[in-house]
Amino acid sequence: MCGIIGYVGGKKAAPILINGLKRLEYRGYDSAGMVTIDKNGANRFRVVGRVQNLDKAVSGLDLNMTCGIAHTRWATHGKPTQLNAHPHSDSRERFFVVHNGIIENHSKLRAQLESEGVVFTSETDTEVLVHLIDKLHETNLESAVEKTLQLVEGTFGIAVVCADEPSKIVCGRRGSPIVLGVGNQEMFVASDVSAIVQYTDQVIYLEDNEMAIVTPNDYQIRTLDNKPIARETLQIDWNLEEEGMGTFPHYMLKEIFEQSTTVENAMRGRVMLNEGSSMLGGLQSKIDQIKKLKKIVIVSCGTSYHAGMVGRCIFEQLTDISVDVELASEFRYRKLRLDETTGVLAISQSGETADTLAAIREARRKGALTIGLVNVVGSTIARETDVGVYCHAGPEIGVASTKIFVSQLVILNLMALLIGRYQSISLSEGVDLLRAMGEIPRQIQHILSRASVLEDLARQYYKVSSFLFIGRQLHYPVALEGALKLKEISYIHAEGYAAGEMKHGPISLIDAQFPTMAVVTRDATYEKMVSNIQEIRARSGPVIAIATEGDLHIADVADAVVYIPDTHELLQPILSVIPLQLFSYYCALYRGCEIDKPRNLAKSVTVE
Ligand code: F6R
Repeated sequence: MCGIIGYVGGKKAAPILINGLKRLEYRGYDSAGMVTIDKNGANRFRVVGRVQNLDKAVSGLDLNMTCGIAHTRWATHGKPTQLNAHPHSDSRERFFVVHNGIIENHSKLRAQLESEGVVFTSETDTEVLVHLIDKLHETNLESAVEKTLQLVEGTFGIAVVCADEPSKIVCGRRGSPIVLGVGNQEMFVASDVSAIVQYTDQVIYLEDNEMAIVTPNDYQIRTLDNKPIARETLQIDWNLEEEGMGTFPHYMLKEIFEQSTTVENAMRGRVMLNEGSSMLGGLQSKIDQIKKLKKIVIVSCGTSYHAGMVGRCIFEQLTDISVDVELASEFRYRKLRLDETTGVLAISQSGETADTLAAIREARRKGALTIGLVNVVGSTIARETDVGVYCHAGPEIGVASTKIFVSQLVILNLMALLIGRYQSISLSEGVDLLRAMGEIPRQIQHILSRASVLEDLARQYYKVSSFLFIGRQLHYPVALEGALKLKEISYIHAEGYAAGEMKHGPISLIDAQFPTMAVVTRDATYEKMVSNIQEIRARSGPVIAIATEGDLHIADVADAVVYIPDTHELLQPILSVIPLQLFSYYCALYRGCEIDKPRNLAKSVTVE
C-alpha cells in the first residue's frame, strides 16, 4: 500500500526522498508528499497524483535541509486530495507524520481531540496521530510518539519528525513494515528496502510493537513500552540492475520476458537429479516434522492464491498429504482445528500481505508448523514463518504479478517432490519431473518468441467488454489467473471458470460478443474441454484455445489456437499461463491503460 521514506544525515534530504518515493511508487500512487526540516522550520509539499508531480513542485527550489520524511499514498480514509496526502501536521506545523496502515479507533480519538478544540484538516485516520503527538509532547519527540502509539488500535508503520528536533526521525511499527538503513553518518527509514537500497545495504527491520529513534550517527530501538532492543544490522543482497526496465516499455513486459531466467533461479542449486528429489535448505531444520505432516493448508491472496490452487493439485499428485487451499482473508476468521501435524504454507511475493501474515500468525498460535514461500528476502512473512523457501526471482515491480507466479509453481513442485520422495513417489517419477523441469526455461523462450501471435489476438479482441477464461484441474487456476490479469490491467470484465461449471450458469452469457479463452492442453480432461468449447461455439461464442503443439484437431474446433510446447502434466500451468499474461498485456496496451500501475491497485497490500 502506501510507501514511506525518511532521511537524516549530511546531504540534502529532498532529492533522496524523491528518489526513494519513485522506487516506492509501485506501492501506491494516488498522491505524494514530503517535508524537510531544519532549525528554522519546515517545508512541506503535497500533490495529488504521481511522484513526478511532487518532483515538479519542488524542482528549482533550493531545499538545503538534511532531514525529512516522504510518502506515496494509496487512499483508505478520504479521497486522494492534497489535504489528505501525507505528511500530516499539527496546527502549528511543528510535528509531521507519514503513516502506512489503518488506525482503527481514529473516530473515537478524533472526536475526543475535536472536543478539546483541535481542528482537523483532512479526512484521514492518520491525522489523529500528529495531533496526539502534539498534545502529548513534553520532553522529546520519542516519548510523545511512544505515548501516542500506546493509545492507538490498528496497524501502523510511521515516521515522525519535529521542527524543534531537526536531526531526528522517530519511527514505529505494528503490522506495517519499517526498515532502517545505516549509512556513513546518515540514516534512512523506509517501508521497503527498495527505497534505500541504492544508498546502503546495511539494514535493520523493526518488529511489531517496536519503535526507533534515528539520528545521523545512531539508532536506538525499543519496544513501545520502553524496553531497549539490541539488534544487529543485516546485509541485503539486491541487484539494482534488476530494477531497471532495460529496453522494455513496461515492467510487466520485462517481467514476462524474464520468466525463463526466473525458472532457472527458482531451480538453481535445488535439483538433485540423481536422487529424483530436491534440496530446499530453508526446510531442512524441520524436515522430520514436514515428512510426517497429515495435512497442509495453503494460504495466500490474488495471484499467489492461484499458485496455491495449482499447488494443491501438485501436492495431491506427488505426496500422500491432504491439502486445502484457503484465501488468507477467509482463513484467518475461520474456526480452525490445527496442530503440529498440520503445515500452513503461506505463499506471498511481497511477504507483507496483511491477510496472509495474519493467517500464519493465527496458525502459529494454534500450534501448526508455518512454512513460507516468499520472494522478498527479509520480509515479515519470511521472518515469521518457522521455515521457508525463497523464490529468488528478484524485484517484481509491475503491479500485476507475472514472473513470481511461475517461480511459485516451480518451487511448489520442488517442495512436493521433496516430501513425495519420502512417501510414494518413485525415483523414476522424480527424475522424469526434474528432467521436464530442466526443459522449461527453453520452452518459455519458445513461447515468448511468438509473442506477436498474442499481440495480433489482442488487436482483434481488445474492444470487447467481457471475456471468459475456462480450464479444468491444473488449468482451472490458470483460467482464474488469466481473468485476473486481464481485468486488473485492461479493465475488461473477465471471469475465470472451471469448464465443468459452464452448464451450471455462465453459458447463458455466451453470444458472438462474449469471447472465451480455453486452456485445453493434452491431459486427462482434454476430451471434456473440447466438448465445452463446442458448446460455446454452438452458441456463436468466439473461442481462443491454448493448446499443445501438434494438436491439429483443436484448430477445427476453436476460432484461434495458441500453441505451447508439451511438458510434464504438473508443469503445464507454467507454460499455459504465459500466453494469457501476454494477451492481457497487449489488450491493456491497445486500450491505452497504465499497465504497470493500474488504477486503484497497489503492489503490496499491507492493510486488510
Ligand atoms: C495480481 C496481484 C495480486 C497479488 C496479491 C498477493 O496481479 O499481484 O493479486 O498476487 O495481492 O500479493 P503477495 O503475493 O505479495 O502476497
